[in-house]
Amino acid sequence: MSDPINSEQNLNTSVTPIEDAVAETGRNRISNLKILKTTWQYMRPYTSRIALASVALILTAGLSLGLVQIIRVIVDSGFVAGSNTSLNGALIGFVAVAIFQAIGTFARFYWVSWLGERVTADIRKSVFARLLRLHPGFFEANLSGEISSRITTDTTLIQTVIGSSVSIALRNLLMLLGGTGFLFITNPRLTSIVLLCIPLVVGPIIFFGKRVRRLSRDSQDEIANVGAYVGEAIQQIKTVQAFNHQRHDKKQFDRHVEAAFAASCRRIYMRSVLITVVMTTVFSALAAMIWVGGQDVIDGRMSAGELTAFVTYAVIVAAAVGAISQVLSELQRAAGAMERLIELLESESAITEPESGGAPLPEPVRGEINLKNLHFCYPTRPESPAVEGLNLIIRPGESLALVGSSGAGKSTLIDLILRFYDPQKGCITLDNIDIKTLHPEALRRHMAVVSQQPALFTGTVLDNIRYSRPGASDEEVRLAAKNAYSEEFISQLPNGFHSHLGEGGVRLSGGQRQRLAIARAILKDPRILLLDEATSALDAESEQKVQLALDHVMRGRTSIVIAHRLATIKNVDRIVLMQRGQIIAEGSHEDLMLNSSLYEKLAKLQFNQD
Ligand SMILES: Nc1ncnc2c1ncn2[C@@H]1O[C@H](COP(=O)(O)OP(=O)(O)OP(=O)(O)O)[C@@H](O)[C@H]1O
Ligand SMILES: [Mg+2]
Repeated sequence: MSDPINSEQNLNTSVTPIEDAVAETGRNRISNLKILKTTWQYMRPYTSRIALASVALILTAGLSLGLVQIIRVIVDSGFVAGSNTSLNGALIGFVAVAIFQAIGTFARFYWVSWLGERVTADIRKSVFARLLRLHPGFFEANLSGEISSRITTDTTLIQTVIGSSVSIALRNLLMLLGGTGFLFITNPRLTSIVLLCIPLVVGPIIFFGKRVRRLSRDSQDEIANVGAYVGEAIQQIKTVQAFNHQRHDKKQFDRHVEAAFAASCRRIYMRSVLITVVMTTVFSALAAMIWVGGQDVIDGRMSAGELTAFVTYAVIVAAAVGAISQVLSELQRAAGAMERLIELLESESAITEPESGGAPLPEPVRGEINLKNLHFCYPTRPESPAVEGLNLIIRPGESLALVGSSGAGKSTLIDLILRFYDPQKGCITLDNIDIKTLHPEALRRHMAVVSQQPALFTGTVLDNIRYSRPGASDEEVRLAAKNAYSEEFISQLPNGFHSHLGEGGVRLSGGQRQRLAIARAILKDPRILLLDEATSALDAESEQKVQLALDHVMRGRTSIVIAHRLATIKNVDRIVLMQRGQIIAEGSHEDLMLNSSLYEKLAKLQFNQD
């Protein structure tokens, strides 16, 4: 469905980085059919429950309609004719129908709500599973807060729709059809009045419904912006406060909240107009009908019971139309939400996994890494290569240091070896197998990385170290901690290894975090060790100790060490000097001092300072 208003919004000038990022995710319109198909995919596993709920639905709708016939008998024979027996009979029927109605309602409500919860849970699970497999670059363009809003608020909308709105719509559709049928049987002439009104009611529903869906998507997008803003501000709360940025942030946030409110208001207004138009039409028709029918009763062409039944059916039909028009806008809202979720579900990872599990690696893995004529630009910066024509062979068991000024491309190289990005040209092999032909999991199984920003997770010390090898025993974890010189500070924590570290390990110092990250890498016992400034946050004494431990761990493994402090890489087999994505010199410390003026300069600056 083409939608000029939405594409116009893409052209809006963005004011904040969050809006930029949100705009970048694009808004490809997804057809209604596709939305239905995808939703059905999630419902299909539960067809037996759907059948059960449908039976209950049809039963209760049928009984409600039948009840009116009993009311007709009660009025005609009981009240008008004054017959006791038929009144009693009719009342017994009434109670019986009511009991069945209660049972049916229970089954319908329970199974339909169950279905809503179940489908939402499944959608949440598959969106998250999809997210975990996406290439890291995806999250540079899509904000985490925005994505979590999709998983929480958007799925909640779908839950409401499947768990109640659809059943309300179907029930009312049955009531509408059944009610109209009975109206025809009872009095065809009066029914034509009802039928005349149908286009008057359906027209506005279609007209306004489309707008509601679009506005609903807008308001969900605004809510997602709010979520993204909160997430970032809270994560960086110390920076926010240190720079006295609260007032500014509050203003920005208020703006997002107000935008969300305004978007909701437009949607609510549309809905209110829709409901008003429908109600007015329906009640005018009802009034016309009662007037015509009343004349018939007065003239004796119709019994009082018949008119009662007729008016009741008319009310049922009117209520059904009202309910459907309300629910339709709910459906439109959910369609907007589903559209966003489908976008996430269909996001393709740029890191493709080979079909049929990928090539096998030799057993055991030797750990030879060969970078052949590597060219790489970050997708967001196609003009400036981060790695350019790089050739490097790292022998099995060799320890190699990468040095070079900031922005030279050292971390990028590690990301390429871990296959977080694919190079545009050239290839990387592990034991002579192109890493693209390996399953990423198989590749990464043999690597452990300590990244430039040590990443800890909410949980205890034990959880965080064991992250790399969930099956490791407590003893093994303790040994790894000892080798990373973390035992001492861990023992001083309130609960030792069981101390909780807070979100992202906030309760630790920078150096402590680094040591836990090193312990985690040591515990994994990998063939290939990738250390990106792993000891940069440590004081000289701890660094020396951790370095000794690392030297020990690196023995016999292929290791790539990035370090700015040249003193920490004295013992490596080879040093590679990088500049602007290229290797400009390599060799031992002594070789480089002789052959590279840049290296000599770096070394002199550092050792003079020491
Ligand atoms: N996600 C990214 N998207 C776009 N460009 C990036 C991204 N990450 C890094 N870059 C750019 O790529 C270049 C190389 O960055 P890289 O992180 O590899 O440098 P580095 O050698 O590790 O530097 P440092 O010593 O400061 O850690 C830099 O110019 C940087 O701006
Ligand atoms: Mg780096």
